[in-house]
Amino acid sequence: MLLEGKRALIMGVANKRSIAWGIAAAFHREGAELAFTYQNDRLKENLDELLDGIGGRGAFATFPCDVQSDEQLGACFAALADRWGRLDTLVHCIAFADREDLTRPFHEMSRAGYALALDVSAYSLIAAARHAAPLMVQDGGGSILTLTYNAVERVVSGYNAMAVAKAALEAEVRYLAAELGPRQIRVNAISAGPLKTLAGSAVKGISRLRDLTAEISPLRRNITQEEVGDVAVFLASDLARAVTGNTIFVDSGFHIIGVPTIQEQ
Ligand SMILES: NC(=O)c1ccc[n+]([C@@H]2O[C@H](COP(=O)([O-])OP(=O)(O)OC[C@H]3O[C@@H](n4cnc5c(N)ncnc54)[C@H](O)[C@@H]3O)[C@@H](O)[C@H]2O)c1
Repeated sequence: MLLEGKRALIMGVANKRSIAWGIAAAFHREGAELAFTYQNDRLKENLDELLDGIGGRGAFATFPCDVQSDEQLGACFAALADRWGRLDTLVHCIAFADREDLTRPFHEMSRAGYALALDVSAYSLIAAARHAAPLMVQDGGGSILTLTYNAVERVVSGYNAMAVAKAALEAEVRYLAAELGPRQIRVNAISAGPLKTLAGSAVKGISRLRDLTAEISPLRRNITQEEVGDVAVFLASDLARAVTGNTIFVDSGFHIIGVPTIQEQ
C-alpha cells in the first residue's frame, strides 16, 4: 500500500461526488490515516454518512473549518496537532464564487465577488499551508495538494471569477513549493477535467465541457473522481518525492488540443 503510515488531512468533502471524496477513498485504499474538515454542520452530516461507508465515523477525526475564518483554521490545526502531532499530506479541494460572478460578463464582475472567490478559493491554500507546514516538518517533510482547472491559460466561458482565483492558486503552488521545498514539503496542483460536482455544476455549461472532452480530448472520454484520486495518491506518496511546484493534468489530455482532429466518417 502506497500510503501506509501516512497521515492526511482532507479539506473539501461536500458529498460523494466531491473530488475530495475521490481522493479520500483512494488514500483509504492505500492505507493512509485520514482526518477531514467540513465547512458547516449540514455538510458534516454528509461527511459522517460517507465515513460510515468506509469503516465508521468514529474511526476518523473531523473538524469544522470555514476557511474564511482565521479562528476556525487555527482551531482545526491545533486540534489536529493535539491528535496526531504531525501531518504528512494536506489535500485542499476548496473553491467558491457567487453564481452571479460566474454568469455575468467578465468585465462586469463585482469587486466583492472577485474578493470572495479569491479569498475562499486561493488565499485558503496559503493559510492552510501556513498551519500545516510546522506539523509536516516534525516528520521530515510532507506533501500539499490542491485542485485547479485549466481556465487559467485559456478562456473557458463562464469560469470568470473562478478563473482568476485558479490563476492565483497556481501561482501560489509555485511560490509555496519554492519556499517550503528546503523543509522537504512538496506542493503540487492537479488540474482536473470537468466533473459534475456541486462546485462544477455552478459553472454554466459544464455538460457542454464534458461533451467536448469526450469528443476531442486525446483519450476521447471524460475523467472520473477515482482517476483524480489515483494521481493524488502518487503525489502524496514517496514515489513523487522529487516532484514539486507542478500542475499535473488529469483531463484525458484535453489541455494539449489546439485544433482538434476531425474524425473521418
Ligand atoms: N468539478 C470540476 O469540474 C472541477 C475541475 C477542476 C478542479 N475542480 C476543483 O476541485 C475542487 C473541489 O471541488 P469539487 O468539484 O469537488 O466540488 P465540491 O462542491 O464537492 O467541493 C467544493 C468544496 O469547497 C468547500 N468550500 C466552499 N467554501 C468553503 C469555505 N468558505 N470554507 C470551507 N470549505 C468551503 C465546500 O464545502 C465543498 O466541500 C475545487 O477547488 C474545484 O475548483 C473542480
